[in-house]
Amino acid sequence: MSTSPLEQGSRSSASDMSKLISQRDNLFANPLGAVRGFMFDQAVVDVFPDMISRSVPGYETIIAHTGELAARFVQRNSNCYDLGCSLGASTLAIRDNIEGREALIIAADNSDAMLEKCKTILDSNHTTTETQLVNADICDIEINNASLVVMNFTLQFVPLEKRAALLQNIYRGLNPGGCLIISEKLCFEPASLNTLLSELHHDFKRAQGYSDLEISQKRDSLDNVLVPETLDTHIQRLRACGFQSASPWFQCFNFCSLVAIK
Ligand SMILES: C[S@@+](CC[C@H](N)C(=O)[O-])C[C@H]1O[C@@H](n2cnc3c(N)ncnc32)[C@H](O)[C@@H]1O
Repeated sequence: MSTSPLEQGSRSSASDMSKLISQRDNLFANPLGAVRGFMFDQAVVDVFPDMISRSVPGYETIIAHTGELAARFVQRNSNCYDLGCSLGASTLAIRDNIEGREALIIAADNSDAMLEKCKTILDSNHTTTETQLVNADICDIEINNASLVVMNFTLQFVPLEKRAALLQNIYRGLNPGGCLIISEKLCFEPASLNTLLSELHHDFKRAQGYSDLEISQKRDSLDNVLVPETLDTHIQRLRACGFQSASPWFQCFNFCSLVAIK
């Protein structure tokens, strides 16, 4: 394993992060017998940038454009929230684009292992933007004076019955004109379309070097842990919260990023 330039203290943009941190994901490469439910523990943290960039088509594009959306929407003296921040890729992309606006970034996660490594990465990246790392369930976080809220690949891990209340809380905490970015794995109807897009995703993972065993064991591990919803469900729930507009701005196979404006 080689260490990341980020961890060695160099300044680097967030969109480079997945290329810089180098431990390869082989967590599901050997037969595991009973596959346990997926957790964001130390083993996952150690391989996370490699795992997410080889598993989520368009991940780097979504992170880079999160920064560009931040440049458009973050207002002076407002708050930005990165909910489910993991190692801080979205936070770094936001920070790179809002220098000098005296905004506060609140980056939250409930994995101790993620937050510990995230702190090292954020501390090694020079910024004048104040950033608070919060160890909490995002369902319990108070949102206020927000011009931007980002949930990149996190809502899908929140229990279904808590999602509407979480989004209502975000809506209440956003300032008028504020922006919510939600990136998610989707499911589709009819089942034949779901199968097609799942197979295209698995083809992508194979092309990234994952074996069929890795793909099937990871899928079993995520079963009932990552619970995807349809695009219609996301849009209707956002509109029911009161967002004046909600639309996908990016989709590749069964992964999508939405933008919603209050
Ligand atoms: C797929 S990762 C997010 C990736 C990250 N946003 C990025 O773009 O690199 C999901 C993260 O959400 C966190 N998470 C899941 N459910 C959570 C909850 N209820 N409260 C806080 N964090 C949560 C996990 O610990 C994990 O770090």
